Amino acid sequence: MISQDLAGAINEQVGYEFGASMQYLEIASYFDDQNLRLLAKIFFEQAEEEREHAMKFIRYLLDTNGGVRIPAIPAPKADFSSAEEAVEAALNWEIEVTGQINRLYSMAVQENDYLAQSFLQWYVDEQLEEVSKMDALLSVVRRAGERNLLMVEAYLAHLDEGS
Ligand SMILES: [Fe+2]
Ligand SMILES: [Fe+2]
Repeated sequence: MISQDLAGAINEQVGYEFGASMQYLEIASYFDDQNLRLLAKIFFEQAEEEREHAMKFIRYLLDTNGGVRIPAIPAPKADFSSAEEAVEAALNWEIEVTGQINRLYSMAVQENDYLAQSFLQWYVDEQLEEVSKMDALLSVVRRAGERNLLMVEAYLAHLDEGS
């Protein structure tokens, strides 16, 4: 039910999703080390979401008999010199993933794989959410500045109350 090419590309994507999950654990740790607990919380939760993205791909490979071959996953970046750098890295990562998802979708279109197109549509929509979330966070962090990250925490606490 799935071509070898597409199954191979999805297995690669599983690696990217787990890679993102590990990268977000490092970013969460960077914030937690500074007692910026709500910034940390965002990235711990994001790490969990990336793991779910990987699991959803694995489920699809199992359902379509594509074969699961998880690739080696490079170590995430562990050192950041500022909150801005850390959040910017997350935003750039999400932009890159959007490109990866679009390439998977293009493959599915070229192969007339309608099931894969329908499956991948969820990721297309999810990426808009992820990119816009990181973009908004980056703008808040930039506006506050590194010396006023506690204001970002207060802002996030306020958002938390509202939800
Ligand atoms: Fe993801
Ligand atoms: Fe993501």
